[in-house]
Amino acid sequence: MFTQFLIFLLLFISTTAQDTFVRTLDRKMLGLDEKQEKLSHFRFYWHDVLSGQKPSSMEVVSPALKNSSTGFGLVNMIENPLTLEPQLNSKLVGKAQGFYASTSQSEVTLLMAMNFAITEGKYNGSTITILGRNPIFNKEREMPVIGGSGLFRFARGYAKLRTHWFSPTTRDAIVEYNVYVLHY
Ligand SMILES: *[C@@H]1O[C@H](CO)[C@@H](O)[C@H](O)[C@H]1NC(C)=O
Ligand SMILES: *[C@@H]1O[C@H](CO)[C@@H](O)[C@H](O)[C@H]1NC(C)=O
Repeated sequence: MFTQFLIFLLLFISTTAQDTFVRTLDRKMLGLDEKQEKLSHFRFYWHDVLSGQKPSSMEVVSPALKNSSTGFGLVNMIENPLTLEPQLNSKLVGKAQGFYASTSQSEVTLLMAMNFAITEGKYNGSTITILGRNPIFNKEREMPVIGGSGLFRFARGYAKLRTHWFSPTTRDAIVEYNVYVLHY
């Protein structure tokens, strides 16, 4: 009798232990049933500042070959300001924190991995995560929004980008971002 009870207890413990690894939740438990998924459009300018006293973008890995015309292998760490207007001193709405890396040997193409840490309005403290391919000399590029935090939980979408200004000498750039995000 006692052995049977012990076996039952062990089975019970092992099944509950398995259950805690993953379980199906009712959407209500995260308050998602009352909320309609919404589509937001954000527009801002991204400043890649490599020159001057206070660069926001720094080379942390040099290209693998010194003579590479595309800088293949280069990695820059960034904390780039996001502003409402093309001017760097216009209203700051957030920072793009992350890095970009040169990933092509035939054209200048970047792998970009960054979090838009928003600091303005009700989105202050929430983040949007971008991971994508950026062939920087194309007129228009697109990169996926792969997620987010805070008000951007469960986010998905895409960013359209266009270079507003680029200096071939310093490689400083101002890029217009239009970000379309589905979120709750
Ligand atoms: C770059 O340098 C490497 C090694 O020095 C050489 O093999 C290669 O042909 C060069 N490439 C170009 C595009 O000049
Ligand atoms: C954003 O949140 C931070 C931290 O809570 C706070 O210090 C800051 O004043 C807020 N900014 C705006 C514009 O509300």
